[in-house]
Amino acid sequence: IAQKDYKLWLQFDRITDTRLASEYRSRLQGIVSFGNSETSKIATKELETGIFNMLENKPDVLSEIKGENKIIIGSRAVLNSEIQKSISSDFDKINEEGFIIKTILFKNKKHILITGKKEVGVLYGVYNFLRLLQTNKSIQDLNIADSPKTNIRILNHWDNLDRTVERGYAGFSLWNWQKLPDFIDQRYIDYARANASVGINGTVLTNVNANALILTPQYLEKVEALANVFRPYGIKVYLTARFSAPIEIGGLKTADPKDADVSNWWKNKAAEIYKRIPDFGGFLVKANSEGQPGPQNYGRDHVDGANMLADAVVPFGGVIMWRAFVYSEHDANDRAKQAYAEFQPYDGKFRDNVIVQVKNGAIDFQPREPFHPLFGAMPRTPLMMEFQITQEYLGFSTHLVYLPKLYQEILESDTYQKGKGTTVAKVIDGSLTKTKLTGIAGVSNIGNDLNWTGHPFAQANWYGFGRLAWNPNLDSETIADEWLRCTFSNQENFIKPVKEMMIQSREAVVNYMTPYGLHHIMDTGHHYGPGPWVSNLSRPEWNPVYYHKADKNGIGFDRSKKGTNATAQYAPEIEKIFDNLETCPEKDLLWFHHVSWDYKLKNGQTLWNGMALKYQEGVNQVKDMQNIWNKTEKYVDADRFREVQMLLEIQYKEAKWWRDACLLYFQQFSGKELPKGVEKPI
Ligand code: GCU
Repeated sequence: IAQKDYKLWLQFDRITDTRLASEYRSRLQGIVSFGNSETSKIATKELETGIFNMLENKPDVLSEIKGENKIIIGSRAVLNSEIQKSISSDFDKINEEGFIIKTILFKNKKHILITGKKEVGVLYGVYNFLRLLQTNKSIQDLNIADSPKTNIRILNHWDNLDRTVERGYAGFSLWNWQKLPDFIDQRYIDYARANASVGINGTVLTNVNANALILTPQYLEKVEALANVFRPYGIKVYLTARFSAPIEIGGLKTADPKDADVSNWWKNKAAEIYKRIPDFGGFLVKANSEGQPGPQNYGRDHVDGANMLADAVVPFGGVIMWRAFVYSEHDANDRAKQAYAEFQPYDGKFRDNVIVQVKNGAIDFQPREPFHPLFGAMPRTPLMMEFQITQEYLGFSTHLVYLPKLYQEILESDTYQKGKGTTVAKVIDGSLTKTKLTGIAGVSNIGNDLNWTGHPFAQANWYGFGRLAWNPNLDSETIADEWLRCTFSNQENFIKPVKEMMIQSREAVVNYMTPYGLHHIMDTGHHYGPGPWVSNLSRPEWNPVYYHKADKNGIGFDRSKKGTNATAQYAPEIEKIFDNLETCPEKDLLWFHHVSWDYKLKNGQTLWNGMALKYQEGVNQVKDMQNIWNKTEKYVDADRFREVQMLLEIQYKEAKWWRDACLLYFQQFSGKELPKGVEKPI
């Protein structure tokens, strides 16, 4: 079990289609590897072992091109001049991290060339080439030029130094601080491989809520060791910077960003880090959010704080990722409005090396949220996306939920901030505002579980995150297809139904947890299971009742003009749509409106009946997922088959739990019977 699960999407199973395997063999008669760097050695080795495992023939590794049908790999600078010349215009199609995979003629003989402007591009090219084989694509006449559309494609580990992981459901942290720096766990290398294979190029090692210890020399030595492992895979290390670190570990009396001692302390700290890690990425900061320290403790603002840190890292090329996840109990009228209200006025005020990191929605990683109104609303500020890969509000690592579907829904959303077609993806990839700094972060779902992510299908969320960070315009269904082929099997009878299962899993979880725009009704603290009745927490906006506002007249949060007017934070075209009960998409209905139980939905049902039917539909969808999975036994190894089967059984039980708990609770307000078709609670 450890072996199959552990290998993620890098299974490189033997290709069973004999015709295809022999075609591949004839085209892949050896590897010619130019270049001597660590990265190029890794690229060669990946190619060699990947081909060996898939085709069971070990390709020779050569240092010059002889004969035909070789795979030639090397970055532009190390290619021989003849090849360089013949493809020089292809390099115009890619950026610094991009790659080219192309069938070329060299001395009238056909070969496959994998190249890039930099070594890391070659490595990305190799993984992409291997994926062509893994997914059984033709390699007859290749001509691929591809580049990442964002600069920072980064995992955020919410890992603490004691190896617990905040909102982590896959065991403990990968980082074994106690044994570092001298002991390099093979896991670190395999982690780097997996990330590089999908183009992830950064990792924040520590929790956004972490203390300042990570910035002490004792820990920086360990961070340095990890950075050394990740570097040849094109992965930069970043750390969280606790704003009060100058006090906690620096012995200063204040952390005021306008205090000269404070800014000097950070400058020195940055210099100390860069001395060890010359390509250190920079800092991720959670400030003045959920009780964390920040510039406001000193009467300063987010701009003061972010710019002070930005000045400390700018001499070394570092960036500051400053989070916009802020809300306060002092303005509890509508939590969804606070980040926009606070950050939008700062547009254009941050240093060039600051990027503001915004969660996909305005509350907190719910099964469904409309896109965050900040996207598109700060045209003079680089904004990066923060998705959550770990399933804090989506059934932990117990429920099968394919998240790229959620990511895609957000990325495709049209902000209308510069007219029709101003999608969130265009804000994120910089094509809209021409910002140079772009990025996507994913709160990692990885731990030291044998299978990395707890649920075998949660691996797809890590994979899919990486693919969408590379190109936010990719289709989540295509990504699921790729992942299944690389992870399990190429058999169509497996792929088709299981892909369908993945695709519908996202809508299923919305239906059995929070249909029609309901949100944040999970049980409190841990956020697992239903808790719409919770109302006794000290901060109003922590209580589920704050979000659903059910009463005898109806249910939902009125964020329209008649309510908190949160709709006004969107561009006028979108505001109009959301604000009007008739035009508001029904999937977001109760996010924006308080609606009567008798309100007629588009399908003719009353809201109460429609809601009850959605809860039931969610349960039915999980049943469908089980039925699909149960038919896959012959395509999947016994261990993974059984594991997923057990997890789906729990998911089914818990979908019913959600349905029954929510409907029984809301029924006290609606006072109505359950409609036909909804199973009676047990
Ligand atoms: C959520 C989550 C916290 C986390 C916070 C954040 O509220 O529950 O554990 O710290 O998000 O993103 O900062």
